[in-house]
Amino acid sequence: MTVVAPTITLRRPLVLIGMMGSGKSSVGKRLATVLSVPFADTDAVIEARAARTVAEIFSTDGEAAFRATEASVVAELVVAENPSVVSTGGGAVLDRTTRTLLHDRATVVWLRASPAMLAHRIAPDGTRPLLADDPAAALRRLAAEREPLYRETAHHIVDVDHVARRVVVERILEALAHQEVPR
Ligand code: S3P
Repeated sequence: MTVVAPTITLRRPLVLIGMMGSGKSSVGKRLATVLSVPFADTDAVIEARAARTVAEIFSTDGEAAFRATEASVVAELVVAENPSVVSTGGGAVLDRTTRTLLHDRATVVWLRASPAMLAHRIAPDGTRPLLADDPAAALRRLAAEREPLYRETAHHIVDVDHVARRVVVERILEALAHQEVPR
């Protein structure tokens, strides 16, 4: 049972970063419920606005167009007046402006997972265009490219391999309890 949450008031948005499959959306939803703040998933916002899936946007508009939309959606959510919990797409940190904005204006938590664990967790359902061919190799390559970016952007790192979602949530709340203003 979590005992720290009632004492936490978010002063900044709480943003989850990390590789696809690391649990950002499910952990983010739980955090938002516990903290009684709204939850937003950047992929879901993009899909709802475009009335297309991320895979369709990648194939028709290309990755660069998706990244530009992603950067503007992240910025919009981070500067919103009322702080929320925001789960970002795994590649959001590729944009330098996004990295700076997140670090300066949000509390950023990197859900760190090994590529082997991610390969095991991610269903081959075609929803993630970057994993179309040889998902395990793609995850290793993307993780190697992105880990320095996640590290540079994050204020907190939470390891998620073999850790129950409930425990991940508790670890994030503990980290927040040490920096947020008590109610
Ligand atoms: C991507 C991750 C996906 C989605 C898109 C690209 C990435 O989001 O934004 O498929 O580049 O890692 P999730 O991390 O929520 O799966």
